Amino acid sequence: MEKWLAISGLVLTAVLAWVVKDAFHQEWIQYQETYYRLALLEARNEAQKEWATNQKFQVKQLRSGDLSTVERCTTCHLATDNPRFRDAAEPLRQHSDLLESHPPEKFGCVVCHGGEGRAATTLEAHSGGRGVYKPLLKGEYLEAACYNCHGFDTLPAEDTAAIRHGMQLVNRYMCQGCHQIDGVGGEEGPDLSDVGTQRSWLWLYAHLARPQAVTVGSTMPVFALSRDEIKDITIYLMTLRKSSQQMYYAAALEKASAKSTPLTPEKRHVESKPRASLRSVVTYEGADLFHADGCIVCHSIGRVGGQVGPALTHIGWKLSTDDMKKLLHNPDDVLPNGKMPQLYLTDQEIDGLTDYLKDLR
Ligand code: HEC
Ligand code: HEC
Ligand code: HEC
Ligand code: HEC
Ligand code: HEC
Repeated sequence: MEKWLAISGLVLTAVLAWVVKDAFHQEWIQYQETYYRLALLEARNEAQKEWATNQKFQVKQLRSGDLSTVERCTTCHLATDNPRFRDAAEPLRQHSDLLESHPPEKFGCVVCHGGEGRAATTLEAHSGGRGVYKPLLKGEYLEAACYNCHGFDTLPAEDTAAIRHGMQLVNRYMCQGCHQIDGVGGEEGPDLSDVGTQRSWLWLYAHLARPQAVTVGSTMPVFALSRDEIKDITIYLMTLRKSSQQMYYAAALEKASAKSTPLTPEKRHVESKPRASLRSVVTYEGADLFHADGCIVCHSIGRVGGQVGPALTHIGWKLSTDDMKKLLHNPDDVLPNGKMPQLYLTDQEIDGLTDYLKDLR
């Protein structure tokens, strides 16, 4: 009898261990675990301790106001409103003060950042996963999202500079000779009035860089555009939407004014510093990053991938690890007159991609 008890006890322990291991396999649980553990370590009083001890591991959901869509970004980005995590590693860092005027319960995250709100893994949330591209809007591309609600009136000029420049370029290159935008323009190419919801910024960038590599047989001319020009036109194109958020927030926006701090992160109270990431908790394969970071849209490896940039099948022979890192950090430093976009990759992504590419020989 005692032997039986001992054995069933062992089995139970084994089963429990297995369940726990499986549960911890979920990436988001690891971030929640880390967050509550750090919160407990940092707790300054009994209430904070109690809070940290009593948190349950669960998928967190935000319902964004107008669209009634579900967003799970805060399942991992847990500390957006926690000042004690100002300097923590992502995804556990406090957000800049922008969330004071755009509280997550009301706005969610996707209105500004893009991405796939329903996903519960980093790769899928930040890019939509393989095949579907919903890349996050990063760096200056975020301007398109701000403009979508604010227009020019309630944002400082610095926050709309790229959009203005993009508009000027669209006039200069007479894109509307072939394209309609809001009812004005020619008909040789497709209507662009809603292109910002139809396409991702990465697709638009790639298409402008080399239309024929993206749309087989395209008759759109290849313009001699610099990297910055392609970027700014792309940002402008991302503002072209039929269903504007502006309607929903119109009343609240009436009250907003352009007196506020511009988008340059240095000026906000959470400075942008070299970002640490907890992603090392879960490492992704270089091949997965190659898809998720959008490289595949422009580059091929073997027979798979786009033709906008050169094939990378043997890139390990050609570029040193050092140059590869430099290039991914800022393409301008290695290919000054090229069209490869700044992708705002994190150090972890750059390391993972470099490890993968250096072995392609
Ligand atoms: C499964 C966990 C997880 C989910 C869900 C998630 N993130 Fe992240 N996020 C991370 C991690 C980990 C990092 C750290 C940087 C890295 O390694 O990419 C990060 C970093 C970021 C960054 C800054 C880094 C960069 O690449 O510029 C932004 C912006 C961001 N997330 C936005 C979002 C948005 C918006 C959503 C919802 C659509 C979301 N995240 C959902 C885990 C997650
Ligand atoms: C009103 C637009 C807006 C909303 C809403 C918003 N963000 Fe941000 N977020 C930004 C901007 C802009 C930055 C760049 C830093 C800055 O200037 O504030 C940023 C920075 C970040 C970063 C750090 C990346 C970096 O480049 O430093 C993360 C992570 C992030 N946001 C996640 C989120 C999550 C998660 C939510 C939802 C809870 C969210 N954001 C909601 C606009 C927004
Ligand atoms: C979904 C619509 C929406 C998006 C996207 C959006 N905003 Fe806003 N923003 C608002 C609304 C609405 C308010 C007014 C909030 C309130 O006071 O009730 C506001 C307020 C502000 C304020 C405070 C203005 C003041 O007078 O106090 C700033 C600054 C701001 N937004 C900047 C930005 C930036 C920068 C971005 C892009 C990163 C952005 N917003 C994206 C809707 C939006
Ligand atoms: C001589 C005519 C012509 C001019 C000028 C032209 N395009 Fe096009 N464009 C086309 C044609 C034809 C297509 C459809 C084939 C394709 O997708 O490449 C197209 C497709 C596009 C698309 C893809 C739309 C979609 O969602 O499928 C975008 C975006 C675009 N053009 C932007 C521009 C911009 C920006 C300019 C100015 C810098 C421009 N075009 C100038 C003819 C033109
Ligand atoms: C929008 C298209 C586009 C995207 C996305 C893109 N690239 Fe590129 N890439 C280019 C172009 C075009 C070049 C050729 C040089 C130039 O014009 O800048 C290039 C050049 C390169 C080179 C140098 C190739 C050589 O033969 O010297 C490497 C390595 C590279 N890219 C890696 C990447 C990786 C890794 C990613 C994903 C993180 C990526 N690229 C995303 C367009 C792109």
